Amino acid sequence: MEIVKIITKSEIETEHIGKVFAKNLVAGDIVAMYGDLGSGKTEFVKGICDYFEVEEIITSPTFTIVNKYTSSVTGKESLSIYHIDLYRIEKEIELNEIGFQEYLNDENAITLIEWAEKTTQIPQQAIKITIKSDKEEDNIRYFEFELPRKFEFGV
Ligand SMILES: Nc1ncnc2c1ncn2[C@@H]1O[C@H](COP(=O)(O)OP(=O)(O)OP(=O)(O)O)[C@@H](O)[C@H]1O
Ligand SMILES: [Mg+2]
Repeated sequence: MEIVKIITKSEIETEHIGKVFAKNLVAGDIVAMYGDLGSGKTEFVKGICDYFEVEEIITSPTFTIVNKYTSSVTGKESLSIYHIDLYRIEKEIELNEIGFQEYLNDENAITLIEWAEKTTQIPQQAIKITIKSDKEEDNIRYFEFELPRKFEFGV
């Protein structure tokens, strides 16, 4: 387990970090995101989707719970991206209804989970990201990545 800490100072920087982070992702990966309302989880997801040249508009799946996107990167067209937002989940049983485990087990997909604190079903091998805001500075975000393998954050 490796811990990487990164500070961003704008929405644009967060998207950029998402894009750089995405280069390391492979099919089967699960990314569990933790952090309060407005911490920047969806902005980070936009950066990941930018890397995978997703053509769909990235919106917060707060009501739909799951959005499915498709990579259009040459050679990676069979890769799906599940963008899951557990904010509205109140009981763990609701996750069975949405087929949460099926998303996690899809080996042709990358699964991105906002509000991972809502479940105890995040697998051990998941990549975990905690995002915190700053008490004084509106646009500062503290990212902490818990990485199960080596990630490259250089440009
Ligand atoms: N450094 C930053 N990184 C990301 N977003 C920032 C930053 N500074 C300011 N913001 C603003 O914070 C908000 C982040 O919103 P976003 O929807 O990504 O949060 P979220 O964590 O997905 O929230 P929710 O829990 O509601 O899903 C945006 O309005 C964005 O403009
Ligand atoms: Mg969000």
